[in-house]
Amino acid sequence: MKDSLFLDKVAVYPGSFDPITLGHLDIINRAITLFDTLIILVLNNYRKKPLFSIQERTELIKKCIENNQKIVVDSYCGLLVDYIKEKGIKFIVKGIRAISDFEYEFQQHLVNSKLIDVETIFFMTKFEYNFLSSSLVKEIAFFGGDISNFVPQSILKDILIKMDKLRRGED
Ligand code: PNS
Repeated sequence: MKDSLFLDKVAVYPGSFDPITLGHLDIINRAITLFDTLIILVLNNYRKKPLFSIQERTELIKKCIENNQKIVVDSYCGLLVDYIKEKGIKFIVKGIRAISDFEYEFQQHLVNSKLIDVETIFFMTKFEYNFLSSSLVKEIAFFGGDISNFVPQSILKDILIKMDKLRRGED
């Protein structure tokens, strides 16, 4: 009997992860129970100006992921569907928080599945992370607020250093 719903399956969890939050980490931990391999893919969102470079975001994620054979961290400059096509992936994992996320995620799902044959699996956020976003984390950190309940401990210092540089106009 199969103990995993999508045995031998690979999924990609795409996002800007600028930076990764505890909300993202929760989706990752839940998604790896369904898939054999989860690729966390750092991409650029055309609508957002990132604070961290794509390489920095990738490194931050790696610092949060314990040695887990099922997780791969990768980055890509281009369309998500092109990456998916290249790798032969059949599943996209996304997290959904408030209803406001739904419209945007639904649109992305429709566009992606129009371009290639791919399914999107949505994970509803846990209650405690419903308010949480990378943008909020950056805003709180910029003004010196405490973000320790919102991001993994292992990257807290990196974010604070980056914010310090930003405030001093060095970044
Ligand atoms: O964490 P985000 O910002 O909500 O993630 C959005 C992301 C990066 C997954 C989306 O913008 C994306 O897929 N960007 C790559 C370029 C692309 O494929 N754009 C078309 C999306 S339908």
